[in-house]
Amino acid sequence: MLSVQDIHTYYGDSYILQGVSLEIPEGCVVSVLGRNGVGKTTLIRSIIGFTPPRRGRVLLRGQEITRLPAHKIARLGVGLVPQGRRIFASLTVRENLQVAQRDLEGGGRPWDWERVAAAFPRLRERSHHRGNKLSGGEQQMLTTARALMGNPRLLLMDEPSEGLAPLLVRNLGEIIADLKQHGLAILLVEQNLPFALALSDYVYVMSKGAIVHHGAAAEFHQHTEIKARYLGIG
Ligand SMILES: Nc1ncnc2c1ncn2[C@@H]1O[C@H](COP(=O)(O)OP(=O)(O)OP(=O)(O)O)[C@@H](O)[C@H]1O
Ligand SMILES: [Mg+2]
Repeated sequence: MLSVQDIHTYYGDSYILQGVSLEIPEGCVVSVLGRNGVGKTTLIRSIIGFTPPRRGRVLLRGQEITRLPAHKIARLGVGLVPQGRRIFASLTVRENLQVAQRDLEGGGRPWDWERVAAAFPRLRERSHHRGNKLSGGEQQMLTTARALMGNPRLLLMDEPSEGLAPLLVRNLGEIIADLKQHGLAILLVEQNLPFALALSDYVYVMSKGAIVHHGAAAEFHQHTEIKARYLGIG
């Protein structure tokens, strides 16, 4: 589904991603782990076209998207759940979702209000509340639901569990597992290791703009040294 090949990304003169490669097979959940500031969000920005890499290539289903504008990449079926809940504060829950609706190309069951309301009962209850009247957890749910309204085939999620109460984290985990069941490929950037491992097929660990480890999620618990060194766990 997605192939990131040796990308190098800068903010002005700041050299951030220093040769990152990663693969997301169709229907798989792939996690990117790492401490604050290692370049996880920059990786997502590089894929979606907000901060295109200066070198290297990004391929979506074999098609090069490296220097396409962000709106074209979105239209090819890439959805984004940005870090920090960027929703429209003055629009209601329903309106936030309506502005994000995009028709599905090809088959599959599209995401529309009815499906969102069934998957996120909390958003159904709050459908007429404005964005700025929602709790942090509700805003995070809305950010995820809004990305789904674009009917993506690849979903990039930047720390979706950040700041959620345990019950909502579990709820979100069920939704992600369900999306995977329906064949969506997901890139999950997370600081919550148990959450990420429970959902992922494959794991990448970043440090200082580079991938320092990758392997099957099921085997990650064995790598105590990597966990201690790069994630500060154990
Ligand atoms: N717009 C920007 N201009 C300049 N430097 C930036 C910009 N955004 C991020 N950086 C720097 O790039 C590096 C990587 O940042 P990035 O946001 O990708 O990290 P991250 O792994 O997502 O961190 P976090 O876990 O805190 O979200 C950091 O050193 C950060 O200070
Ligand atoms: Mg980040």
